[in-house]
Amino acid sequence: MSKKIPLFNLNYGEQELQAVKHTLDSKWISTGPKCEKLEEQFAKKIGSKYSLATTNCTAALHLALVTAGIGAGDEVLVPSLSFVATANVVRYAGAKPVFCDIIDLQDLTIDPAEIELRISPTTKAIIPMHYAGFGSNMEAIQKIADNNDLLIIEDASHAPLATYENKKLGAIGDIGCFSFYSNKNISTGEGGMLVTDNQDYFKKAKLLRSHGMTSLAYNRKDGNNAYDVIELGYNYRMDDIRASLGLAQLEKLERDMNQLQHVRDYYVQALHSINDIIVPFQNYQGRSTNYIFPIVLKSSNIQRRENIRNYLKEQGIQTSVHYPAIHEFSIYKNDAVALPKTEYIARNEITLPMFPTLQESDIDYIVEMLKKAL
Ligand SMILES: Cc1ncc(COP(=O)(O)O)c(C=O)c1O
Repeated sequence: MSKKIPLFNLNYGEQELQAVKHTLDSKWISTGPKCEKLEEQFAKKIGSKYSLATTNCTAALHLALVTAGIGAGDEVLVPSLSFVATANVVRYAGAKPVFCDIIDLQDLTIDPAEIELRISPTTKAIIPMHYAGFGSNMEAIQKIADNNDLLIIEDASHAPLATYENKKLGAIGDIGCFSFYSNKNISTGEGGMLVTDNQDYFKKAKLLRSHGMTSLAYNRKDGNNAYDVIELGYNYRMDDIRASLGLAQLEKLERDMNQLQHVRDYYVQALHSINDIIVPFQNYQGRSTNYIFPIVLKSSNIQRRENIRNYLKEQGIQTSVHYPAIHEFSIYKNDAVALPKTEYIARNEITLPMFPTLQESDIDYIVEMLKKAL
């Protein structure tokens, strides 16, 4: 096998090395000035009033739910077609995730009609997830939320700087959460961000991020050691080493997004003649991050999907699946619910390699091998 094309390629270089060196040289490596700078710059770019750097997006989502007062006896509507964290956090908060299907095989985001169908007297919130950086139908979701007094917590893990009707995803609902996991558009290894325009939520989330303590070590470094603990909080802080990586990555984001859009356009063109597959989100009006490149096999099944993935693997092409359906995982099986479109995607979607420096010649090769596999 001559070629080797990974699913994702980390865009790290001299900027990240220098940023980390600067932080190490400063001798302050836990939550401090770099986190504050990242929060400030991120909030500005997203257009939200407040932002809070966290250990990861899972922690940000959990903080968002607890901050918004969601707990035992409450239900939260979530897409089943997501990473498992989107549902797990609801259970961390003591509430129950209620799974919803996606719109169709073109738009893989949560279906507003499903949201309406599954609202109960105990529903408190909706967590739309912006799959691959394409926004959920926020206009319809916002209307449903307004009519039913529900909160919206956006899982914008895939979507920093992506837009929906000229608004930045993550800054549309009550709280938005982003992931900086190593394969995300901004990579810090582990990392996340919570954004909101609501000062009360921000203050509470900040308190809970650090054990419910009234001040951070960074704020006490000049000798004022007094603090109180006024809530039962967590340790969900980001450290300054990761924040400095985040700052370097944030600077590259615009350019990376432009390159990813070119990669997507080239893929879409190259796949145009294959009738056997669907390329989702072709009608999307906003700007996407193109975090991943999903394709869906038509009239297919899981065995055929795995055969195709195995063939691509033998040709040196790494692929993935986004996602196995959460409601079909063992720990959620008791919530028996049928979500046929999500289940179809879980068995027939293939995620092809996607990263800013993916070459046109590599895409030609991937498409040629995919045609052979089909
Ligand atoms: C849609 C979605 N939600 C939540 C998460 C959790 O993010 P993190 O790994 O930063 O906790 C991820 C990460 O893979 C994700 O893709």
